[in-house]
Amino acid sequence: MTEEKVRFGKPEGKEGEALLDQMDKHHTPVSLWAIEHMNIGEDDVILDIGCGSGLNIKRLHQKSPKAKTYGVDYSSTSVKKSKKLNNHLVQKGEIEVMEANVQDMPFEDDTFDVVTAFETVYFWPTIVESFKEVKRVLKPNGKFCAVLDANGIYAPEIEKVAREEGCNFYTDEELIELLKQAEYSRITVYNRKRKENKKLIKTVTAEGYDERLIDDNYDEGDIAEVEPVTPEWLCVISEK
Ligand SMILES: C[S@@+](CC[C@H](N)C(=O)[O-])C[C@H]1O[C@@H](n2cnc3c(N)ncnc32)[C@H](O)[C@@H]1O
Repeated sequence: MTEEKVRFGKPEGKEGEALLDQMDKHHTPVSLWAIEHMNIGEDDVILDIGCGSGLNIKRLHQKSPKAKTYGVDYSSTSVKKSKKLNNHLVQKGEIEVMEANVQDMPFEDDTFDVVTAFETVYFWPTIVESFKEVKRVLKPNGKFCAVLDANGIYAPEIEKVAREEGCNFYTDEELIELLKQAEYSRITVYNRKRKENKKLIKTVTAEGYDERLIDDNYDEGDIAEVEPVTPEWLCVISEK
C-alpha cells in the first residue's frame, strides 16, 4: 500500500494538512450532532483518539473547561496541526496532544471519563483489541463515543475508499457485536436517518434490547460549509 493510498487513514505532509482542513468542513455537522449526545460534564477528563486537525479537541474542551483534554493520533501531521490549532491551551497545560496508536496508548488504566473517536474507527487495526485498549483507559462507568457519518457502505465511492485503504465501514449492528466482544456493559446507538429527519435509538444491555424511533429536528444547514451527502450518521456510546 502506498502513502498516497492511506491518506484518509493517516494524513501526512502538506497534502495531509489540506485534507484535514477538508475533513473539518465535511465532518462538522456529524461531529456537532454527536457531541450533543455525549452529556459531557464540565470536569470530565476527555481523550479524543484519531484527533485529526484538533478541532474536536477544542470543542470538547469547551464542554469540560475544568479538566484537561487530551488528543492522540498516529499521524505526526495530525498531532502538529492539533497542537497549532489549540496552541494557547496547550501552552497553558489545559490540552495535551500526543503521537500514539490506539493499539497501545501512553495512559494509565482508569484515566478518562469520556473517550471519543470521530470518523476514525474505520481505520483501526484488530478492532476488538483496539476497543479493549480504549476500555482499559476509561474510568469505571466511563463512556466510549464512536462517531461515524456512514452506516455501512452506501455508495460506490465509499466502496472504493474501503478497497484502496483497506478500511471497514461498519454498520451499527456490526459495531454492537464488536463492542459486545470487547465486553462493554451498555451500548447505545443513535442513528440519524437524515432523509426522514428521524433518529433511531437502539440500546443493548445485559437485560435485553430496546429500540425507539423519534423525530430529530437537528438542522445542519446553519453550520455546514459543505452540504453533507451521507444518508445516515451514527453516534455509538458504550459504557465500561
Ligand atoms: C478520517 S481522519 C478523521 C480526523 C478527525 N477525527 C475528524 O473527525 O475530522 C482519521 C484520523 O484517525 C487517525 N488514525 C487512524 N488510525 C489510527 C490509529 N490506529 N491510531 C491513532 N490514530 C489513528 C488518522 O491519522 C487520522 O488523523
